[in-house]
This record gives sequence, C-alpha cells and structure tokens, in this order.
Amino acid sequence: MPLVCSNTKTKSSSHSYEGISKKSLMRKFLVTGGAGFIGSAFVRLLLDEVPACEVINFDALTYAGNLDNLKDVDESRHLFVRGDITDQNAVLAALPPEVDCLVNFAAESHVDRSIASAGEFLRTNVLGTQVLLDAARARGVRRFVHISTDEVMGSLPEAEEQYFTEDSPFAPNSPYAASKAAAEHLVRAARHTFGLDTVITRCGNNYGPRQFPEKFLPLMLANALHDDPIPVYGDGCNVRDWIYVEDHCRAILLALEIGRPGGVYNIGARNQRRNIDVARSVLDQLNKPHSLMTFVKDRLGHDRRYAIDPSLAESELGWRPRETWESGLEKTISWYRDNSDWIARARSGAYREFYSRQYGTEVGAQ
Ligand code: NAD
Ligand code: DAU
Repeated sequence: MPLVCSNTKTKSSSHSYEGISKKSLMRKFLVTGGAGFIGSAFVRLLLDEVPACEVINFDALTYAGNLDNLKDVDESRHLFVRGDITDQNAVLAALPPEVDCLVNFAAESHVDRSIASAGEFLRTNVLGTQVLLDAARARGVRRFVHISTDEVMGSLPEAEEQYFTEDSPFAPNSPYAASKAAAEHLVRAARHTFGLDTVITRCGNNYGPRQFPEKFLPLMLANALHDDPIPVYGDGCNVRDWIYVEDHCRAILLALEIGRPGGVYNIGARNQRRNIDVARSVLDQLNKPHSLMTFVKDRLGHDRRYAIDPSLAESELGWRPRETWESGLEKTISWYRDNSDWIARARSGAYREFYSRQYGTEVGAQ
C-alpha cells in the first residue's frame, strides 16, 4: 500500500480522495513525477489554466522530488500521493476510473547518474512506464501522455544544419536515453496492440525555477552565487537546445488537449547554444568573472549537439514559446537569487556525496 499524503497532511488510506468532489469534476488528471522540476511546473500550469480541473500527483519523492516545489498550488484541487510507478498496486490504488488523462513525467532524469549506474533508470523509466500503461488501460483512462526527450534521437553533427524531426531514427547514446527510448517503444506498442490513446512529447534542455542543481544550468547558478568554480565538460562546445520550462509545459498541455491520437511532437524553442556560451551568459548576468569556469574531464559518450525542429508542434498545435532566452534566463536567475534556502537544502545531504563522486571535489571547494 502506498503512503498517501497531501501537502499539509499525511493520510494512510490508498483511496483517499477527500476534498476532491467527483461531481464537480470537469477534468481529472493523474500526473506522475509532479514533485520534480518539470512535473511541478506542469501541475501549477494545469491548476492555473484548466478551470475546475483536479490533479492527483503521484510521485515517489526520490532525491529529485521535492514537496517544496508544490508549496504554492491550490490544495483544494490537488492531491499528492507518494508512491512508486513500478508498484502496480500503488498505481492502481491512486488511479480512480474517473481520471481522464495520465501524464507521465516520472523518471530518473540525469545522464551522468545513468552513466554511473543504470539500474534505477531501467526500473523506473522502462518498467514503470509499462506499469502505468497497463494501469491506464485497466482504468479506462482516455488519454496517456508520455514525456520523452530529444536524446532518444542521439547526437547531431556539430557543423551541419541538421535537426531532429519526428521522423529522425532512434539512436540513444546514454543509458538514460536508451531507457527513454525503450519507454517510447512501450507506449507505441500499447497504442498499436491495445488501441490506447497515446501522445508522446520530446523536448530538449529545460531551464527555469526549481531545477535540481545536478543539471548544468542550476548547478552553474548555485555554484556561481557562492563564487564556486563551474565545471565545464570537455571543450565546452557541446550544443544544447534550451527551452524555458513553462513553454515546454504549455506545449504538453496543447498536445494533451488537441494532439493527434498516437501523435509524437518535438518541442523546442529554436534556441541552440554552446555550453560555454550558456556559462558566459549566466556569469555576465550575475556579474561574476568568466574565470569561474573550470574545464574538467568530459562526460563519457557525450552527445555533441541537439537541435529540434518544432515545426509540427507549431503547425498542428499552434504552439509558440512565450519566453526568449534573455527573459527566461532573467526569470530563472531571479528565482534562484530569491530562493537561497531551496538551493541550500538541495545542496545538502546526499547531494554532497553525489557531487564529490562526480567531480572529485567537495561542494563549495574553491
Ligand atoms: P526530475 O528528475 O526533476 O523529476 C523526476 C520526478 O520523478 C521526481 O519528482 C521524482 O521523485 C519522480 N520519480 C522518480 N522515480 C520515480 C518512481 N519510480 N515513481 C514515482 N516517481 C518517481 O526530472 P525533470 O527534469 O522534471 O524531467 C521530467 C520528465 O521530463 C522526465 O521524464 C524526463 O526524462 C523528461 N525530460 C526532461 C528534460 C529536462 O531538460 N529536464 C527535457 C526533456 C524531457
Ligand atoms: O535534451 C533533453 C535532456 O536534457 C533531458 O532529457 C535530460 O533529462 C536533461 O538532464 C538534459 O540532459 P543533458 O545531459 O543535456 O543535461 P545536463 O544539464 O546534464 O548537461 C547539459 C550540458 O552541459 C551537456 O552538454 C553536459 C554539460 N555539463 C553538464 C554538467 C552537469 C557540463 O559541462 N558540466 C556539468 O557539470
């Protein structure tokens, strides 16, 4: 039986939907991984933008999940359930038949951790996705939205003007990317074999508030704010296609509402940048010296370039990003500046062990 709790109180029943009136339901969602970076932004967006919707937020609260990320949500329409997506009974217990749509964000999401050890990635990202697909069918969920990544398509050449499209072949290069590719295959199979209504979104590098500081941008911000060195892998010329998290979430909402059954949508803001240029932008905005950049050993199998062609999402969903790189970065930086307690908590405990294993130096070491 899963532990069931809301933001303010802990409940012990696996069928605790008090406070959620079935009759008043207009739309009911189950979001997995909704205490993480993108999932919590999506839950906030749903509650803000879909009138009278109700959200069951199912999350295991791993190191990356954080109830602080949900502090400001409307609790009368949000039920938090602590549970693991690989636990079939827990998932079924949290999924009442009235749920219209299941949106799966839950995943192990950090490439470096998958290189160090892949087991959890296979368990959560692959087996967990199958458990959710089976549960969605068992409960008659109308639509299953799966949040995937551009990394399933591998790496693009640096010099050529080549982009990922929905037809690009799969070529996952890291254990993380391979696990996400496997998950996509399972989603596709559930549609083909059982007729489940599925939609898959594939996005590039998100940035914004509440991103755990293992990822490059928040790691840079957290370190630079403390005048600590910023580790840049290899030559720093790897290219990523950056998108503000809320823009990604708006694209998911559109795909969920009007996407084609069985549709796959690449989501990107046409914002390719080299890692060293991203680091320079952050340091400039913080008035910190570029000398904080420290070149360190490259990531194994490091993908060189990601670049997304979002034409299909633009034409079929009418989606456009609202933030520019400049406006998104400004919002992100001011959030991290204003939330030093959040950063301090994220950088304590197990993070310190991860950091010294990964970088061979202590958090905060000069
Ligand atoms: P995150 O690591 O910040 O959050 C993941 C969340 O999933 C956490 O709240 C964690 O507690 C939860 N979780 C992990 N294992 C679980 C399990 N077994 N059962 C239930 N919950 C579990 O990740 P994120 O950056 O918010 O990414 C969310 C999704 O978006 C992932 O599927 C990721 O692959 C995908 N994605 C991320 C990016 C990015 O730039 N961060 C880009 C494209 C796609
Ligand atoms: O493209 C989408 C993917 O983006 C998501 O699917 C992943 O969940 C997400 O983690 C992200 O993967 P990346 O590997 O691109 O993100 P990360 O923030 O780890 O690294 C971004 C770039 O910065 C990459 O080229 C590696 C580099 N890097 C990263 C870290 C953590 C550094 O140079 N130094 C670092 O310390």
